[in-house]
Amino acid sequence: MGCDLARGSLPALRPRTRSQRQAIDQGHFGPLLRTRQEPLSQALFLSRARRVDASCHENVGIHDSVTTWPLETRLRSVKQHGVFEQPEAYERYIGRWSRRLAPEFISWLDVAAGSRWLDVGCGTGAFSTTILEQADPRSVVGVDPSRSFVDHARSAVRDPRASFAVGNAMSLDLPSGEFDVAAATLVLNFVPDPVTAIKEMRRVVTGGGTVGATVWDYAEGMRLLRIFWDAAAELDPASSALDEGRRFSICNPDGLRDCFKRAGLANIEVRPLVVEMVFSGFDDYWTPFLGGQGPAGAYTMSLPESDRVRLADLIRSHLQPGPDGSIRMTSTAWAVRGS
Ligand SMILES: C[S@@+](CC[C@H](N)C(=O)[O-])C[C@H]1O[C@@H](n2cnc3c(N)ncnc32)[C@H](O)[C@@H]1O
Repeated sequence: MGCDLARGSLPALRPRTRSQRQAIDQGHFGPLLRTRQEPLSQALFLSRARRVDASCHENVGIHDSVTTWPLETRLRSVKQHGVFEQPEAYERYIGRWSRRLAPEFISWLDVAAGSRWLDVGCGTGAFSTTILEQADPRSVVGVDPSRSFVDHARSAVRDPRASFAVGNAMSLDLPSGEFDVAAATLVLNFVPDPVTAIKEMRRVVTGGGTVGATVWDYAEGMRLLRIFWDAAAELDPASSALDEGRRFSICNPDGLRDCFKRAGLANIEVRPLVVEMVFSGFDDYWTPFLGGQGPAGAYTMSLPESDRVRLADLIRSHLQPGPDGSIRMTSTAWAVRGS
């Protein structure tokens, strides 16, 4: 069995405590992923992975025993938890592309300087940072249910106009009419009831205030993940139960319009946002999936090592590097606004 990091092979996931073992028995990945992936810098992440790589063969037996959970249990766990808990890993995975989508979305929202912004599902603070840099806001409040993401946002965004809190989009612990604009970037599809979340966003903005959102076009234009899930389905048809392109009916213009309308918004407009993604090589594309974030990362890290290597190899065979080894693709998101 190969143990080459570049081929996507990482060391075994190994429960270390009784509570981790119990959680795994119940089908929860979180404690397992946390065990292996404390927040790490890219360099430390790679060096640690390489170090453990040396003892990879020794880990295989334990890994195999961990991954003998029924597939259904593994898929249910990934579906339920979404897995957004490691800020650095998220930044390398989607955060870097979210930052690239933000400027055009903010320009399009066309909100006056001096406005009070709410960033719903603020994650690591990527969108809030761009609001502060670009939109001259009076204030920015970010809320997200992931405590580790909120802690990261607090320490990464030091601007006195910004504040962050743990919160749920479906029941915002905020007074009505407190904001001029509420926006949720790449979030609504992860919220169990997006219409309730949009109603909450509408409630907390002043009359005539702006409510906006972006979602990836998972079914077609989000190439980064389309390539991933198509390859995963080729090897493991059951993985399509996790494919964001199949699961999220809100991630297209009609779905967004419908949800915004049902939430009571008017003047609804939808437009695409396209980001060009350039990867320095296959590792730059693939390694972020090994951070275990989001459904695709969590699925990747739920696989036995041999299957993960097969998936990496198949994806590599589908990607066309340029003469300098770099891999280029575009990915599309849909942006919506209403008032
Ligand atoms: C793909 S990340 C996007 C994060 C950030 N907005 C960005 O653009 O980088 C999805 C985020 O949605 C958050 N999320 C999931 N369920 C949520 C809910 N019910 N309410 C608010 N945020 C939620 C996750 O914790 C995660 O931070």
